[in-house]
Amino acid sequence: MDKALFGQVALVTGASRGIGRATAVVLAENGANVVLAARSAADLEETAKLVRSAGGKALAMATDVSDEDAVRNLVARALSEFGRVDILINNAGGNSRGPIASLSLAGWQMTWGTNTTGPFLLCREVLPAMQRQGGGKIINVVSGRGRQGGANSGAYSASKFGLVGLSQSLAEEVRDENITVSCVLPGPTDTELRRTGRPNEDKSLILRPEDVAEVILFLATRPANVYITEIPVRPRRYYTGIA
Ligand SMILES: NC(=O)c1ccc[n+]([C@@H]2O[C@H](COP(=O)([O-])OP(=O)(O)OC[C@H]3O[C@@H](n4cnc5c(N)ncnc54)[C@H](OP(=O)(O)O)[C@@H]3O)[C@@H](O)[C@H]2O)c1
Repeated sequence: MDKALFGQVALVTGASRGIGRATAVVLAENGANVVLAARSAADLEETAKLVRSAGGKALAMATDVSDEDAVRNLVARALSEFGRVDILINNAGGNSRGPIASLSLAGWQMTWGTNTTGPFLLCREVLPAMQRQGGGKIINVVSGRGRQGGANSGAYSASKFGLVGLSQSLAEEVRDENITVSCVLPGPTDTELRRTGRPNEDKSLILRPEDVAEVILFLATRPANVYITEIPVRPRRYYTGIA
């Protein structure tokens, strides 16, 4: 039987580890060719090997998603290599944790640059290709913090609220062009981003990157007439709070 994403091209940011790496692999297992972006070229190459082992073609491009020229170059290379982008996964994320009273402007700007400006730039650069192709899917990896703020999460939460606003606005702009814009809102997931803030957490109680990747795959494989606005994903055995 044909794989669900056979012949499709996905661009995944933050693909050098964590949820992005797991997503790139599961998309390749389901037939996609995958463009991989993050800043670390060596780690991206590891993901590229996994994608190829899963049966997909991989193009790894070291890219800072907050850099306009770099994003233009990334999308141009993706299009020259594969000719199309069917699925855009805005997953790259950063977090400058700490109380707002002592947050640096650099930390605030890094967080917004990665979590909000990056997706804006990626969407803007990929949209013309999706419009030419007659459709596409954009999936933005948000967070429970995109719905509910919390102590020490000021920059992160604000940037993820921003990403929800960007997603909802863009969805309205492109709905008649067969392009959907969906949000995944994961709860705690065992990745470097999470471990940095909470090194002693019981990993058995939180999500695995693969759990979130499966939800992204679900969104990426919906029929074109179906638009799922957002999916919150929580670990079953964790506290009932939002983050
Ligand atoms: N883990 C959780 O508990 C959790 C919960 C809710 C939402 N999320 C979201 O899930 C997404 C993935 O995070 P993760 O948990 O998988 O964390 P992770 O393992 O730390 O991965 C973050 C990824 O983003 C990339 N990245 C960071 N800054 C970048 C930049 N400026 N340009 C390009 N790539 C950049 C990193 O690669 P380089 O360092 O190589 O650039 C890495 O590939 C993020 O959007 C995060 O906010 C995570």
